[in-house]
Amino acid sequence: MSGTHTPSSPRENPMHLAAFVVAGPVSGCHGGWRHPAANTQLLSASYYTQIGQLLEQGRFDMLFLADILAIPRRYENSLESQLTMGALGALRLDPMVVLSLIAASTKHLGLASTISTSYFDPYSVARSLATLDHLSAGRAAWNIVTSFQQAEAANFGLTEQLSREERYERAEEFVQVACKLWDSWGDDALKLDTATPQFADADQVRSIDHQGKWFNVQGPLNVSRPPQGRPVFIQAGASGTGKDFAARWADVVFVTHSSLESAQAFYSEMKDRARHYGRNPDELKILPGIVPIVGETESIALEQEKILSDLTQPEAGLSTLSYHLDIDLAEFPQDEVLPDIDVPGVQGHYKEVAELTRKTKMGLRELGHRYGIGPLRDFVGDGDHVAHNLQRWYEAKACDGFMIQVPYLPGGLENFVRLVVPRLQDKGLFRKEYDGTTLRDHLGLTRPERQQADA
Ligand SMILES: Cc1cc2nc3c(=O)[nH]c(=O)nc-3n(C[C@H](O)[C@H](O)[C@H](O)COP(=O)(O)O)c2cc1C
Repeated sequence: MSGTHTPSSPRENPMHLAAFVVAGPVSGCHGGWRHPAANTQLLSASYYTQIGQLLEQGRFDMLFLADILAIPRRYENSLESQLTMGALGALRLDPMVVLSLIAASTKHLGLASTISTSYFDPYSVARSLATLDHLSAGRAAWNIVTSFQQAEAANFGLTEQLSREERYERAEEFVQVACKLWDSWGDDALKLDTATPQFADADQVRSIDHQGKWFNVQGPLNVSRPPQGRPVFIQAGASGTGKDFAARWADVVFVTHSSLESAQAFYSEMKDRARHYGRNPDELKILPGIVPIVGETESIALEQEKILSDLTQPEAGLSTLSYHLDIDLAEFPQDEVLPDIDVPGVQGHYKEVAELTRKTKMGLRELGHRYGIGPLRDFVGDGDHVAHNLQRWYEAKACDGFMIQVPYLPGGLENFVRLVVPRLQDKGLFRKEYDGTTLRDHLGLTRPERQQADA
């Protein structure tokens, strides 16, 4: 453990912007899909290619597609609330298919797919991500999730999901195996020499012969080493084990907070953890999620907020919070505050709502409504106001950039790109042009060297 790196001020590094998108009804706000300017053609290819192109116009680092592997049934033990209200988990297209489409219609935008280490296997995941990295010329990222719903376990032949510790243990070995597979080809192994003839140099391709507790994989991969060496790794675990996992493996950490102070505390904790593992803390980017509501003027933005608030059903937010926390919130008194509880589900989401509850003393129903809209109020206003607050968070070392969750698509994104991005560019905080080609270039991350076979 070195601890020798001096952290540079976030101002020395450019701000990063990613967009959190769900290939389903809700990306930012639960009422968003019913907004009069929202496009409900969620099943059409053009919906996603338009989003990708807009993000590229806005010079975003990447598009991040969240994913889960079941329609949640945690609220009242029923699918009803998610499906009827079009809540966060009501529908999800396969992210790798959606990203392949966007890869073909963009040139620079990073493409991040959420893939679970609990229900897939490392060979097929390493292969899909290497394929996406090649076809997009180095723009692939992997949001490494361990999954947290019983309903997901039930879709993959399990009666019980693995415990949190087992899920992370499996994730650890999963990622190690994936890395060995990406490294099973030397960077220069693919020759494509028609004259010799030599398609590939067999001396540079090796089996991995991995034998572990969770996986036995011979290898090598049948796809050559990805342009980025390996895809960019994203992680959002917030338990102690999750944070440690992120500090060792992640290039980008995605979190949600309900205040600047908690974001600052998390930021410095994660940089310390990265340092503890001998990493340069600058190579771990922290991107909190925010839901910006932007208008030409403050009053237009406030009017939009009112529309979105009216469209958001408290029960939709509670239904989503129930599956995030893995607790049926319908069983608690709706006008009383969320009690202090030991939550089996996502620790990051629990910390966010527990902090909000402590501060505001709002009852559960109101909490559901707030959770459904997206909680942070610092980011509602005209372009100047929102850009100013992004700068404030960034300069206060609360983050290295943001995961932007627009309240509805595509209009919320058009507004952000038109009204906020130019303000950030004027301030010299955000790129005007892409100056590299791969996602690692955009994020300022070094390309990993191929590891020795026994590493
Ligand atoms: C902001 C945020 C976004 C997340 N997005 C996803 C997701 O799209 N899919 C998923 O399966 N898990 C998602 N998670 C869950 C985490 O990846 C992780 O599996 C979960 O938090 C359990 O880890 P923990 O116990 O360390 O919190 C998300 C968590 C947070 C905080």
